[in-house]
Amino acid sequence: MNYENILVELENSIQVITINRPSKLNALNKVTIEELSHVLVAADKEASVRVVIITGAGEKAFVAGADISEFSDFSVEEGKNLSKKGHDLLFSRIDQMKTPVIAAVNGFALGGGLELAMAAHVRIFSENTRVGLPETSLGVIPGYGGTQRLGQIAGKGRAMQMVLSAEMIDAATALNYGITNKVVPLEELMEAAKKMAKKIIKNSPMAIAKAIQCINANYTSGVDGLAFEVNTFGECFGTPDFKEGTSAFLEKRKADF
Ligand code: COA
Repeated sequence: MNYENILVELENSIQVITINRPSKLNALNKVTIEELSHVLVAADKEASVRVVIITGAGEKAFVAGADISEFSDFSVEEGKNLSKKGHDLLFSRIDQMKTPVIAAVNGFALGGGLELAMAAHVRIFSENTRVGLPETSLGVIPGYGGTQRLGQIAGKGRAMQMVLSAEMIDAATALNYGITNKVVPLEELMEAAKKMAKKIIKNSPMAIAKAIQCINANYTSGVDGLAFEVNTFGECFGTPDFKEGTSAFLEKRKADF
């Protein structure tokens, strides 16, 4: 498939997806969400992709939000569909991928941009990044998971503060709030994301996929996370990766997953 709004590169088992609408600060319109969904579904099925990095084109923005021009005249029903489709196609899908996703955030990450970064498993921000959920200033609420994931990541008090005030915070404050795992100079952002990806790639893809499921189980209503962990832990013992990982340790060599 040829993409209009994203660039995709695969090198050393790391797939870099660049959201490429810099003239609109990489705002997420319908086409961009569909293209991201398409490429991520394919990546998750592809064993040669061990880590995905999502970033934005240019030096100013990761993603400045959902594309406001596309929904300003929507009805109640259309608003619900917009949110539901976003969750189903992209935001919940990233959260639940077997392949780890790193958001390399290179500037403004507002509304849907911060929601996209928060759906990823790991976040690295450049020093010029500014993030916020400004939706209440537009007469709406975050609709791509922001009301749920910000509290999970940064705590209820900070989620309340950021959503109710619609304020933007800088990268250092985001680090302090736990919203990002790391902050680096802009010119070192991709290198830092790739360094993190390479660490992940050394580990068992089977164990990584199961670990993601277990960590997510803690945030899934109706699921007993500890019971889920017990079962999933047991399942690992029946896999070639477990045999390889433990044999390599006992034979004093590096595991080859
Ligand atoms: N949706 C649609 N278009 C957007 C956009 C969005 N979320 N964010 C930026 N753009 C567009 C602008 O309309 C402008 O397009 P134009 O040149 O055709 O007029 C272009 O991107 C550049 O943005 P501009 O506002 O001129 O840049 P700036 O440096 O003055 O301000 C921001 C940067 C990020 C502060 C500002 O663009 C902004 O507040 N964006 C909206 C953020 C938001 O509310 N996101 C949540 C959406 S639910």
